[in-house]
Amino acid sequence: MSFNIAVDGPAGAGKSTIAKAVARKMGLIYVDTGAMYRAMALYMVREGVDLCDSEAIIAKCREADITIRYEDGIQVVYLNGENVNPYLRTEETGHAASYVSVIPKVREKMVDLQRKLAAGSDCIMDGRDIGTCVLPNADRKIYLTASSAVRAKRRYDELTAKGEKCELEKIRADIEERDYRDMHREASPLKQADDAILVDTSHMMVEEVIDKIISLCAH
Ligand code: DC
Repeated sequence: MSFNIAVDGPAGAGKSTIAKAVARKMGLIYVDTGAMYRAMALYMVREGVDLCDSEAIIAKCREADITIRYEDGIQVVYLNGENVNPYLRTEETGHAASYVSVIPKVREKMVDLQRKLAAGSDCIMDGRDIGTCVLPNADRKIYLTASSAVRAKRRYDELTAKGEKCELEKIRADIEERDYRDMHREASPLKQADDAILVDTSHMMVEEVIDKIISLCAH
């Protein structure tokens, strides 16, 4: 039996930074499920599919073959054989992913892939529905959150450090819009699992959060 940690929470709560570090320190594989929805969204954008047309997305999603490989410990997402990692972390793809991920047919396909990965390896998996739907029997469940103001400021700092021009208020509005869509959709909305431990990182440093998660997840 593999050992699985589920980490859920809203956009910008620091899930991927924390999960990646915990994975390294605990010798686990880090499974980034957002990247899978982003790859599906990238496919739709490239194919010119209207993101509000769920029938078109359902029809097209059959043509998108998404596979995951671990290369030097890094998750690489292949879309119809192409390594699409360089295109996944843009704001545009994240925004598009929050549209395609509301569609149950898309979710079914992704959840299936996620469960297979978790069954085959000790991992820490982050997303929105990992503790509630993908891995209801995960060994540990964490719900990582922070206020939208703090999440927006972190994202703003990250983007400006990369030299990108952006506006704090616009980022905050986008985060709040995305939270709303993730929390209010019908299929597997974002919510804290009953047995998940809540960690609010609004006033915590990254290292502090990592240590806290490791102490909660030691086995
Ligand atoms: O975590 P992220 O920003 O990479 O996620 C991109 C979008 O994908 C986000 O709006 C919600 C969706 N998502 C989801 O619905 N379920 C998951 N397990 C992971 C991400």
